[in-house]
Amino acid sequence: MQHTEGMLREGTLSDKVILVTGGGTGLGKAMATYYSELGAKVIISSRKQEVLDKTAAEITAKSGNEVLAVAADVREYEQIENVIQKGIEKFGKINGLLNNAAGNFISPTERLSHRAFNNIIDIVLKGSTNCTLALGKYWIEKGEGPYTVVNIATTYAFTGSGFVVPSACAKAGVIAMTRSLAVEWAKYGIRLNAIAPGPFPSKGAWDRLLPGDMKDKFDMTKKIPVGRVGVKQELANLSAYLMSDYSAFVNGEVVTIDGGEWLQGAGEFNMLSMVKPEQWDMLEMMIRGVKGS
Ligand code: HXC
Ligand code: NAP
Repeated sequence: MQHTEGMLREGTLSDKVILVTGGGTGLGKAMATYYSELGAKVIISSRKQEVLDKTAAEITAKSGNEVLAVAADVREYEQIENVIQKGIEKFGKINGLLNNAAGNFISPTERLSHRAFNNIIDIVLKGSTNCTLALGKYWIEKGEGPYTVVNIATTYAFTGSGFVVPSACAKAGVIAMTRSLAVEWAKYGIRLNAIAPGPFPSKGAWDRLLPGDMKDKFDMTKKIPVGRVGVKQELANLSAYLMSDYSAFVNGEVVTIDGGEWLQGAGEFNMLSMVKPEQWDMLEMMIRGVKGS
């Protein structure tokens, strides 16, 4: 048994039809693939139809299950309504949503134009609220739960982070929506949870955020207590569990999956993990030698 393997039993999601935004690439593609392998009918959406078509074919070849690819910009509510309508026409229902589409700039904040800043807020926060609201209205009217939303946030949504400020603001809003609607919509059989991933190598995020030799200069593994970055399958496992009815009592939760990265930065004395055992012998002697003054 390894973290690189699928965790849930065959057919776990066979009664689910799940919309995955940003499902054509990276982590969204990995999660959509695993949902499909677990028996779900999956609708993937993002702006580029040709990317979606290729991914849909790849997923079907792997899982044997149908995947619908519908292009849309999550910033445009009407386009999301169209995706939902196409999904229902094809599969008869939708009962799961993964809000995964995102954009991000690494930049000193003062170098960003207000349009650039707003663009990220619009994709990440407005995109997630658009999809959640459109599906929520349909679910509440239909009234046949359970329904599940999983939102992809980040760890810096709760710590904040310089140089990715629009993303941090937007993802914090996504967490606020998760916790708010988890309570408000529970009576309709709708559950919402979020995942806060640490670093998971993906072309979209890593090539854009750490271009050229920045990846080597800022070795992420050094910041992570478990000494490695994330593997897509472990994120897919967590997200499939939260999407499934196995997690029926988990609601309004934000699950961090980062190898302890953000806590390493937060703990006052965590830098002492650099101290070697023989240095501790010396330090202990010095500390014991200091009696009250
Ligand atoms: C500053 C920039 C810029 C840059 C563009 N702009 N690139 N400003 N630094 N690098 C400005 C433009 O000049 C313009 O402002 C405004 O931003 C909008 O530019 P567009 O090119 O029209 O933007 P658009 O192509 O619509 O969107 C850009 C994008 C997009 C959001 C980055 O390419 C996208 O959706 N990428 C998805 C891939 C991605 O970012 N994935 C990362 C997710 S990872 P003006 O004023 O000139 O009009 C993540 C967490 C990572 O979120 C955590 C790691 C641990
Ligand atoms: P990615 O491959 O760049 O994924 C972003 C996806 O969003 C793309 O498929 C993109 O497709 C889509 N998208 C962007 N703008 C859109 C729009 N306006 N409308 C519809 N779709 C849009 O990066 P990733 O690493 O897989 O990221 C996936 C998620 O994980 C994001 O929410 C990200 O914030 C989060 N995350 C990633 C990491 C990491 O280390 N990789 C860490 C923490 C959180 P198009 O461009 O074709 O539209």
